[in-house]
Amino acid sequence: MSELTAKITAAKEYISKFWEEEPVAGIILGSGLGNLIQEIARSIEIKYSDIPHFPESTVEGHSGKLILGYMQGKPVVAMAGRFHFYEGFSMKEVTFPVRVMKALGIHTLFISNAAGGMNPAFKVGDLMIIRDHINLQPEHPLRGKNEDTLGPRFPDMSEPYSKALITAANKIAADNNIYLHSGVYVGVQGPTFETRAEYKYMHIIGGDAVGMSTVPEVIVAAHAGLKVFAMSVITDIGIREEENVITHEEVLAAAKEAEPKLTLIFNELIRQL
Ligand code: HPA
Repeated sequence: MSELTAKITAAKEYISKFWEEEPVAGIILGSGLGNLIQEIARSIEIKYSDIPHFPESTVEGHSGKLILGYMQGKPVVAMAGRFHFYEGFSMKEVTFPVRVMKALGIHTLFISNAAGGMNPAFKVGDLMIIRDHINLQPEHPLRGKNEDTLGPRFPDMSEPYSKALITAANKIAADNNIYLHSGVYVGVQGPTFETRAEYKYMHIIGGDAVGMSTVPEVIVAAHAGLKVFAMSVITDIGIREEENVITHEEVLAAAKEAEPKLTLIFNELIRQL
């Protein structure tokens, strides 16, 4: 057994001691978007610091625990708080929880994040379904010897975000009068927000929103054969010439405001699984 596989197995076995159920879906929640975990019934919580080989989260707004329970009657595992490359973790560490959730049994991964908008049609508080991404992060989570038991050496990335889940989400949104964008997420390293020139550049290359997470988890999910549904809350607009000083507090406040809509969509998609 490889070192990575041994670590995944150790983490999985630790978690399974507390919860025997096989989760069908994994959920990773972004900055200021942790309230969704209150939708999880009969839940148990495991601190990241107690799970073998799990990194420990360091950012404000990320509480750092795994929550196992039921959403809409379906067994799920959720991460309250995720790991970012800018915190100093390697990409292998950032994506380790995805490997563990896959080992626990999930087949679908739901992701939320806070992101800066570059598409001129976007406003603060809007929601964007991620239909594709551009990876501008500096280290690749699959770099190094491939573990064939975990996935292929050269994973296909033609549909990292499930078209079926996107269609279902659009229907849910229409039925509930929720206005959704769909767009391309650019993944960057952070922790600086972008310069005006960088926001412009990312829009020119095809990006609609930019953030410091999600892409590594989606890459590993694709490698592992998981279906992914991901949504961004647009917490700031990068392309305005004036008024675009961006703070973490502003990001958290906008995320909080948009959260109920996101919760409704995740809830309903999980009900339909
Ligand atoms: N840039 C990068 N990451 C972000 C932003 C942004 O404007 N907003 C929230 N996360």
